[in-house]
Amino acid sequence: MIKKGIILAGGIGSRMSPLTKAVNKHLLPIYDKPVFFYPLSVLMLSGIKDILIIVNKNQQNQFKKILPNGKNLGIKIAYAEQKKPRGLPDAFLIAEKFIGKENVALILGDNFFYAQSLTKKLKECVKLSKGATVILHPVGNPSSYGVASINKKNKITKIIEKPKKFFSNLAVTGLYFFDNKAIAFSKKLKPSRRNEIEIVDLLNKYKKNNKLTAQFLGRGGAWLDTGSIKDFYDTSAFVSALENRQGLKIACLEEIALNNKWITRKNVEAAIKFYGKCNYSEYLSTLTKKSSK
Ligand code: TTP
Repeated sequence: MIKKGIILAGGIGSRMSPLTKAVNKHLLPIYDKPVFFYPLSVLMLSGIKDILIIVNKNQQNQFKKILPNGKNLGIKIAYAEQKKPRGLPDAFLIAEKFIGKENVALILGDNFFYAQSLTKKLKECVKLSKGATVILHPVGNPSSYGVASINKKNKITKIIEKPKKFFSNLAVTGLYFFDNKAIAFSKKLKPSRRNEIEIVDLLNKYKKNNKLTAQFLGRGGAWLDTGSIKDFYDTSAFVSALENRQGLKIACLEEIALNNKWITRKNVEAAIKFYGKCNYSEYLSTLTKKSSK
């Protein structure tokens, strides 16, 4: 069972400049919450309570203003710094001590997931004891992503970064579940032409041993990588439409913690005080009423 998770929230955010010149992308808003609430909510829905957030040098304090240590959510949040964006598997080198001898989930800080039965699917993924699992989702422009093909048993047969020639429309999303070998494998990776160590190279090490499995969000599911300006605003519009239509929030951290019985109504009341008078707090106050039933 995977009990530890990493959110990779560093990087340059060059595609979103000038917005990202002064502020880390993961602190910008997707509709009514900072970007990093969304991947954090995914880890929490998986049942993961021990989380390391990797941020750029000297940016810890900004994140800590919103989320100091996770106590208010009944979880444990620690921060680590990445000196330079050396690539996604660098997460396992930075987090070596945090991971210890355990298995681990990794989610990219700018990835957004929404799907029916998402929690159920995530709970399947965290059962991993050996190998690795990636979440695949169909896209219209596979040449822009890491892409994988699968066999009947959902084992990955081929995985290529930004393929020039079409072989599958299944993109590898930014949510991964790894056994402890990820650390040793990542140490052996050589930087690519863009001078980064590549997640596809790490996944190929698992594939070689027939240990790389796929999971899916399903047809109605949405996966958005909020890294470009257009995707960023599209994701905001998606969240706004869903939240206003349903009257339910996506990625309300306190709501997930309350449902998981990690916190009580008292914690939610404290959160309302902390956030102040705002739409998010109004939503939280409806939760305190619901749970008093
Ligand atoms: P990218 O979108 O590849 O990079 P970026 O966020 O710096 O944006 P851009 O391409 O516009 O310059 O990164 C995907 C996610 O992973 C994003 O949430 C940032 C994070 N990341 C790190 O934290 N460290 C890294 O070394 C890399 C490559 C990415």
